[in-house]
Amino acid sequence: MKFETRKIDSYRAIYPRNVVLVTTIDNEGKPNIITLAWTMNVSFKPPIVAISIANTNRHSYKLLHQVEEYVINVPTREIIKEVLFCGRNSGKNVDKFETTSLTPSRANKVRPPIIKECVGFLECQVINKVKAGDHTVFFGKVLDSYIKKEFSIEKNGYDLNKTKLIYHLGKNDFTINSSELIHIDEWWK
Ligand SMILES: Cc1cc2nc3c(=O)[nH]c(=O)nc-3n(C[C@H](O)[C@H](O)[C@H](O)COP(=O)(O)O)c2cc1C
Repeated sequence: MKFETRKIDSYRAIYPRNVVLVTTIDNEGKPNIITLAWTMNVSFKPPIVAISIANTNRHSYKLLHQVEEYVINVPTREIIKEVLFCGRNSGKNVDKFETTSLTPSRANKVRPPIIKECVGFLECQVINKVKAGDHTVFFGKVLDSYIKKEFSIEKNGYDLNKTKLIYHLGKNDFTINSSELIHIDEWWK
């Protein structure tokens, strides 16, 4: 079967991707925030989550070599402006906590803070890093993982009626999840 195609940058063909705010910290205890769309669950046992950070000039890349820990904070629609700000400005030049008024709060197991306004949190310790082209993939063993009860339901994690997670479409364009829950009974049994 023939069909017409449109050329696309490869990364865009698997968009939209959910967006997270990753917190890191320097040796002196000053934290930073970076917006990331390139993340990946890697292992159940132990739980490992990877993040991909450009190894060219990101402040967060430098900090991850000082303190090898990070928190993946899951933001929602309510703080989308702050999400874009943290993805367009470098911690080299601005204190993103001060400028955005996002609130740092102590994590349970790692030194970088969690962001109070987010709904989900993964506290990670770097166990490996792999350079891949112009990015470096950091593999983080998850030391603690939790979401706000208020935004969750027991069976499925996030309550889709209350939680609008952010997905990146490219450039300054974003979308959110729908509240539709699709449960499929196994019709072939
Ligand atoms: C929606 C969005 C997603 C992004 N995803 C990534 C990513 O996955 N990896 C990356 O290295 N940079 C990504 N960026 C760019 C960084 O967030 C941006 O360069 C940031 O200013 C770096 O901050 P830092 O220098 O304080 O570490 C993204 C930006 C936006 C707006």
